[in-house]
Amino acid sequence: MKSVLITGANRGLGFAMAESFYQKGYRVYTVVRNDEAKAIIHQHFPESFVLIADVTDTDYQTRLQEFLADKKLDVVINNAGSGGNRGVRTDLCTPEHLMTEFSSHCVGALSTVQGTLASLKHAEHPVVVNISSRRGSLHMQSQGEAKQIRIALSYRIAKAAQNMLSLCMADDLETDGIKVIVIHPGALLTDMAPPDADLTPKESAKRLLNLLESNAFSSREFISLATRDRLPW
Ligand SMILES: NC(=O)c1ccc[n+]([C@@H]2O[C@H](COP(=O)([O-])OP(=O)(O)OC[C@H]3O[C@@H](n4cnc5c(N)ncnc54)[C@H](OP(=O)(O)O)[C@@H]3O)[C@@H](O)[C@H]2O)c1
Repeated sequence: MKSVLITGANRGLGFAMAESFYQKGYRVYTVVRNDEAKAIIHQHFPESFVLIADVTDTDYQTRLQEFLADKKLDVVINNAGSGGNRGVRTDLCTPEHLMTEFSSHCVGALSTVQGTLASLKHAEHPVVVNISSRRGSLHMQSQGEAKQIRIALSYRIAKAAQNMLSLCMADDLETDGIKVIVIHPGALLTDMAPPDADLTPKESAKRLLNLLESNAFSSREFISLATRDRLPW
């Protein structure tokens, strides 16, 4: 049986991915922040496993390792993250915005991979999937594609940092046979929806599952689930 770990799985894209993988027969492990979220997961996916943790907690990595107890993981999905529409210009972005978004999107992703590394090494074809955003692309930003867009600077910066983390991890984990891919899930109709949102999280999750099942991807690819194109870094 294949297995997946998804952070931030109680709503939005995380929930939709948990649903897709669960229905496909995966053993599903999730990380959510409170009892209410855990109840949502168990109500919809009774056979799944839930760790209550904030991915920015200092003891998160250790607790994640204890939770997994060295069990095999085929796929780890870094999905948890915050931010969106606060501090959308240079004069409005605060140090607190930057620290919060960097902590969830980048530090949290690193802790999740560190806490799941032993489990990933037990899988035949392990994959780390980092849910990023087109807004983390330095190339697209430099081309003016996000100029004056009402998306938080802290969010864009945190996703760019997460992208660099992904490439660093891809280099380091290659010798263990672990692929690292980066996903732009589309402009999604979730609580974090951008103004041009047009894709349901369910459809995005289905596309990701199909991509992973096809194995038609390489480490270090930045893939859009909206267009299925490879995005520039
Ligand atoms: N929506 C879009 O159009 C879009 C586009 C590109 C990329 N993305 C990315 O896709 C991912 C999912 O986005 P979404 O639209 O589904 O967002 P969402 O509906 O706001 O859900 C975010 C999830 O992340 C969890 N979370 C946030 N900070 C956390 C932390 N520090 N520790 C643990 N869990 C945390 C939330 O938990 P709580 O319920 O406890 O808050 C929630 O489950 C994010 O990484 C986002 O940046 C989204």
